[in-house]
Amino acid sequence: MDTSKGLEQGFDELEAYIQALHEKQGALITVLHKAQTIFGYLPKDVQLFISEKLKLPVSKVYGVVQFYSFFTMIPKGKHRIAVCMGTACYVKGAEKVLEQFKKLLGIHEGETTVDGQFSLEALRCVGACGLAPVVVIDEQVYGKVSPKKVADMLSKHQQGGDET
Ligand code: FES
Repeated sequence: MDTSKGLEQGFDELEAYIQALHEKQGALITVLHKAQTIFGYLPKDVQLFISEKLKLPVSKVYGVVQFYSFFTMIPKGKHRIAVCMGTACYVKGAEKVLEQFKKLLGIHEGETTVDGQFSLEALRCVGACGLAPVVVIDEQVYGKVSPKKVADMLSKHQQGGDET
């Protein structure tokens, strides 16, 4: 995977962002947010970089990343699958749909397949309850999803989304 160039550019961008901050000590969460926007996730190297630049112990940076669920240390897949687990979707069987994704992809929610193709997450209501159960893959919303449809949805994104 050719991430090295991306990482380098990302570090430059992050450094510039940190340099521009007035108050560095209290900016950890803001900086982590920015870093996650740049890199998509917060690997160890990025956390080390932040701890150096903000002059904070790396354990503190790590602690904050662990504490907040919106920070992740796992890279996102090329295709992001989000299964809505809000009440309406749950009642209509979203759990079985999620199970089927887990089974076919061989991962749990919050994880990414080894080939980097898919990451899986469970979300709260995405605001399309009338279509429950709802799955969002990348920008596309699927309604009334049954476990039977899962394999088709995956192959569609595998074939159709590779050109980028
Ligand atoms: S509960 Fe799933 S869209 Fe609202």
